[in-house]
Amino acid sequence: MFKFRKKEQALSLGTIPKHIGIIMDGNGRWAKKHLQPRVMGHKAGMDALQKVTIKASELGVKVLTVYAFSTENWSRPADEVKFIMNLPVEFFDKYVPELDKNNVRVEVIGDTSELPAETFDAMKRACDKTKHNSGLVLNFALNYGGRAEITTAVKEIAQEVLEADLSPDNITEDLIANHLMTNKLPFLYRDPDLIIRTSGELRLSNFLPWQAAYSEFYFTDVLWPDFNQEQLVAAIREFNRRQRRFGGL
Ligand code: FPP
Repeated sequence: MFKFRKKEQALSLGTIPKHIGIIMDGNGRWAKKHLQPRVMGHKAGMDALQKVTIKASELGVKVLTVYAFSTENWSRPADEVKFIMNLPVEFFDKYVPELDKNNVRVEVIGDTSELPAETFDAMKRACDKTKHNSGLVLNFALNYGGRAEITTAVKEIAQEVLEADLSPDNITEDLIANHLMTNKLPFLYRDPDLIIRTSGELRLSNFLPWQAAYSEFYFTDVLWPDFNQEQLVAAIREFNRRQRRFGGL
């Protein structure tokens, strides 16, 4: 009965975006509002992420890419960076078991070689433990920057032109996409259909700039720790009010 109701809700929502990207912003402001240290906002943000992931998975979303740490976030106070870098350890112990039960697969994009060893290990364990799951892919953008991603792809392609007989005439959009970090996602779902940004900021902030070419954007004033399952549903309803034309008529 319960399962039936979930299915019914998904149907009444219309088209479910297959890939949703989320810029989880406003953790610091949430903490300030609750008279707590900034890092408590990130902790609350993890709880919000867990609930939203489970809901997205129930609705049939295939990929959820979340901006957890950008290449620019290293300039934050050392204590805050340290706290965020510790989150994956807590994530693995506290949240991965439930995700695993829900058939969720964890992935990471970003320059993981620069992460502290413990952070890297925890994320690797999360990916390994869930790698056989066939449900929603929870894709963490961790130490991710879109321009850095494109720069790396350009370098790789230039190298192929120099060494591997690749003709510049054969450089296509698909070839470029194959060199981006999202190449590890299921082929049909590499580009987000919908990008959500919380906390009232109206920017992309170097989040998936190539992949967002045709994404719909949903901005809300809600601070990320307050973003919940109902708000996800509201974002999907708004997505369904938009007409995606991909440049056509
Ligand atoms: C932006 O809010 C949020 C972040 C930089 C970090 C978000 C990370 C999580 C919610 C958890 C990630 C989980 C794992 C396992 C890595 P802000 O600090 O910029 O907020 P503000 O703009 O109000 O200051």
